[in-house]
Amino acid sequence: MVNLGNIWQYLALQSPLQSISGDQLNASSTTAKMAVTSYSLPQLPYAYDALEPYISAQIMELHHSKHHQAYVTNLNNALAAVAGADITDQIALQQVIKFNGGGHINHSLFWQNLAPAISDDVNHAAVAKELVATIEKTWGSFEAFQKAFSGALLGIQGSGWGWLVKDGGALRIVTTKDQDPVVGGEVPIFGVDMWEHAYYLQYLNGKAAYVENIWKVINWKKAEERFLGTREDAFSVLKAVL
Ligand SMILES: [Fe+2]
Repeated sequence: MVNLGNIWQYLALQSPLQSISGDQLNASSTTAKMAVTSYSLPQLPYAYDALEPYISAQIMELHHSKHHQAYVTNLNNALAAVAGADITDQIALQQVIKFNGGGHINHSLFWQNLAPAISDDVNHAAVAKELVATIEKTWGSFEAFQKAFSGALLGIQGSGWGWLVKDGGALRIVTTKDQDPVVGGEVPIFGVDMWEHAYYLQYLNGKAAYVENIWKVINWKKAEERFLGTREDAFSVLKAVL
């Protein structure tokens, strides 16, 4: 039985790379007998127009209140349905839970990754000293890292995400397809949404301009916090309502 009270653990259970301990399985069995978990849309830590001119208020409002809300609604509906379903229906619902649960996870992390361009939080040299030092050690320079990350974002085919992750003590750039979240043991430092809904209303087909401007609103203070913290710290934004 799967722990429906913890969506990222649920997704991890579907990963063939993830090993599950006996304690996790025991906890899962207990939790699954409890009330079905319901997730809610997190509030943005800034106003819809706070990321102007780099991300328009129109995009932010639609992205948060419509797209992210739809992932949350669809996830809750699927979790409610799977709880009472037979095994064949549970299997059929897995993809729905994976897609919408991933969408909820990714966007919840993403909103925290951003900050107004006038905020001190975007000054990587001042607020992310330890992370930047490791970035420079890994890629040679901050600019080389930005070039590599931007290249990874622009190399995504179709819809997906680019992530800087902490894997053990090392940093890596990874991309995920559609709404697949980072469900290994890595800590997501920050991610960038490369779905067209994240930029098209403002940038049209100018994907490269969106990538260039996203650097102006990356919240390096939050990135430093995640770099110094644990995976559980990063995912604490996922508040479930029982
Ligand atoms: Fe999105």
